[in-house]
Amino acid sequence: MKRGIENCCRHFLLLRPCYGLVLLAASAIIALIVLQPEQVTLSTHSGFSLPTSMIPYHWKWETKEESASGEMLIEDIVHFGSEVLLLVRVPSSFGFPNKERLQCRYGTHTHFAYRQALAVHLEDTRTAVICGAPPQDVTWDVSSVLIKIDKDQEIRKGSANPEYKHPLPWNSSSVVYEVFPTHKDVVVFAHGVNNTLGVELPEQERLKQFQCVYGGRYITAVTAQANDVFRCDHPPASVMGDFAGKKVFLRIGGEIIPSLAYYNPLTLKPVGRRAVSDASDEEHLASFEATPGKPKLHHICACTLIYNGSKFLKEWVYYHSHLGVEKFYFYDNNSEDNLDEVIANLANFNVTKHSWPWVKSQEAGFSHCSLLAQPECSWMLYIDIDEYFFPNSSFLLRGNETFLRKNEGGDVSSMAGYKRSSPSILARFIQEAVASRKDVNVTVGQIAIYCHNYGPSGLQQSPPQGVTQGYTCRIKRQRRHKSIVLLSVIVESLRNQVHHFTMKSPYVLETIRPWVAIINHYKFQAWDEFKTKFHRRAASNVADWTEDRNLASNDRVPGLGTKPIKPADWELRYCDVQDYGLRDYTRRVFGFYGKDKRLHLAWE
Ligand SMILES: *[C@@H]1O[C@H](CO)[C@@H](O)[C@H](O)[C@H]1NC(C)=O
Ligand SMILES: *[C@@H]1O[C@H](CO)[C@@H](O)[C@H](O)[C@H]1NC(C)=O
Ligand SMILES: *[C@@H]1O[C@H](CO)[C@@H](O)[C@H](O)[C@H]1NC(C)=O
Ligand SMILES: *[C@@H]1O[C@H](CO)[C@@H](O)[C@H](O)[C@H]1NC(C)=O
Ligand SMILES: *[C@@H]1O[C@H](CO)[C@@H](O)[C@H](O)[C@H]1NC(C)=O
Ligand SMILES: *[C@@H]1O[C@H](CO)[C@@H](O)[C@H](O)[C@H]1NC(C)=O
Ligand SMILES: *[C@@H]1O[C@H](CO)[C@@H](O)[C@H](O)[C@H]1NC(C)=O
Ligand SMILES: *[C@@H]1O[C@H](CO)[C@@H](O)[C@H](O)[C@H]1NC(C)=O
Repeated sequence: MKRGIENCCRHFLLLRPCYGLVLLAASAIIALIVLQPEQVTLSTHSGFSLPTSMIPYHWKWETKEESASGEMLIEDIVHFGSEVLLLVRVPSSFGFPNKERLQCRYGTHTHFAYRQALAVHLEDTRTAVICGAPPQDVTWDVSSVLIKIDKDQEIRKGSANPEYKHPLPWNSSSVVYEVFPTHKDVVVFAHGVNNTLGVELPEQERLKQFQCVYGGRYITAVTAQANDVFRCDHPPASVMGDFAGKKVFLRIGGEIIPSLAYYNPLTLKPVGRRAVSDASDEEHLASFEATPGKPKLHHICACTLIYNGSKFLKEWVYYHSHLGVEKFYFYDNNSEDNLDEVIANLANFNVTKHSWPWVKSQEAGFSHCSLLAQPECSWMLYIDIDEYFFPNSSFLLRGNETFLRKNEGGDVSSMAGYKRSSPSILARFIQEAVASRKDVNVTVGQIAIYCHNYGPSGLQQSPPQGVTQGYTCRIKRQRRHKSIVLLSVIVESLRNQVHHFTMKSPYVLETIRPWVAIINHYKFQAWDEFKTKFHRRAASNVADWTEDRNLASNDRVPGLGTKPIKPADWELRYCDVQDYGLRDYTRRVFGFYGKDKRLHLAWE
């Protein structure tokens, strides 16, 4: 039976236009696997490897130990500076252990060092293990490093991989780190490529310097490029199958740069419909089209990068779900708190997590998120987890129709029905922003909203009832803005900077006046929160605030040097005006009196 499946798989790979059929076949194969798990072994070489995060929910299946030959191997190693990332091939069923059971060992038998490890699930058969770097005096290379599970099991490098001796230095080398296949092309993410290479050339000439190389052999042209993103054609259908499951490299000015990422054309999935089976091929292909304005499964989604943000997640998701966000994409930068648990408890809110272990690559994460969400979301809200969109009262619920009354005293399980009952707050806001420019020859494709930055508001500790409840004092002037973007109008290169995307013509950015809507940014929180947050700045253009470089950056904290030392008056800083707007609104919508006669919020 195994042979049968592989033949059928190969056969379908040859028919490039027939994705519908491929997906049907894939469903059928998975159905077979579900029926007879012990008889089928998925070969990682067949290219049949679907990242779990992309498998539609009903496709997921329980597996037992299915690969007896499932030897685990280190395939690639990247050096981030203070941390080392090891990419490990694992049998798809293997539940990788974490923390206490996992360690990295660097060095030789006589001189070595152990470091704690964190495992991050990437795809079905790949896991990233992140370890602290060893001390300077321990010499090590890719053949001596090993990962230990429970002190007895050891994972080492494979015989073929990595093909280099020293770990790839993220700081100083170029490397392909993600590959995302779309229906029409392949999006390759590469870090560290010289951005000024050929800027003086006309765009078509500039792009000619780059090529994608499948399996180290098959070359296709790069058709669009910006930031870390390089878009290339798929290999032709007749050979596509040969490169499935192989690495994709980039060639830049004739030189091939190393790659950590594999080509998996079968991860393509249909769009905006619940079942593939009742669609013809043509319909299926059509469903991939990026027709602006075409309704998607979700009108509004949100995407955000997250690290150790679990304790703030519930409040943020409740609130933005109330506004009308239908699906949440969290790009997790190796969180070490209980993120998975918190997400599992938000099952009614359609929250998904995608691992994003790459250093200083927020822009690339946003581009990746736009690709991932494009099939099912029309508009995407790109804001951070300490930011709350707050339109003026003409958009908000005015009456007594609160969250809790609708939901019978705090039962949030029926939230989904509530938020879809009428055009949501955000939907009305977007509609109005778009309509405001109807009279001219342009269409609004992106909406920019200013931020109000809040200070510690006198608090020494995180407010237990939520950030919206405790932080009520802010800087007077509004600062830089964040965006809501129509995904289908983003340029091919996915170019973005500080939360804004470049759009195709004739789409334009509409900047919202601060009295129409604002983002409450709880930026300067109680000292302990603030300290950790600013240690891990995400965007690629800003340094750590503790580093003595980029001192003039707009992102620097006013009045704070480069030392992580608490200023004596921290609690009183960044406080020009008391602003209770969002606190009072959320109390009205999410507040209820408990048996203790005190006001509680739904997310407490
Ligand atoms: C990379 O750069 C950071 C500072 O930006 C430095 O701390 C680190 O040591 C560097 N890592 C390597 C491997 O060079
Ligand atoms: C990037 O490319 C430009 C133009 O080719 C060159 O002048 C510059 O030295 C390169 N920078 C680096 C860091 O390689
Ligand atoms: C992240 O959270 C974990 C668990 O709460 C904690 O051990 C770790 O120190 C945190 N990391 C940072 C940088 O604060
Ligand atoms: C969650 O989103 C997926 C696709 O994005 C959709 O199929 C599903 O119906 C949604 N679930 C809920 C509970 O809204
Ligand atoms: C809500 O408001 C309506 C009219 O404004 C009123 O008739 C109704 O009694 C109110 N309900 C509650 C629970 O306050
Ligand atoms: C809108 O564009 C059309 C076609 O480009 C042009 O003929 C027309 O004059 C434009 N109208 C305005 C108001 O700019
Ligand atoms: C709220 O925004 C709308 C525009 O959408 C505007 O007409 C109205 O005046 C604003 N309300 C206040 C109180 O500023
Ligand atoms: C993820 O966290 C690391 C610190 O472990 C940081 O250096 C990196 O910039 C973060 N990446 C993003 C995309 O925020």
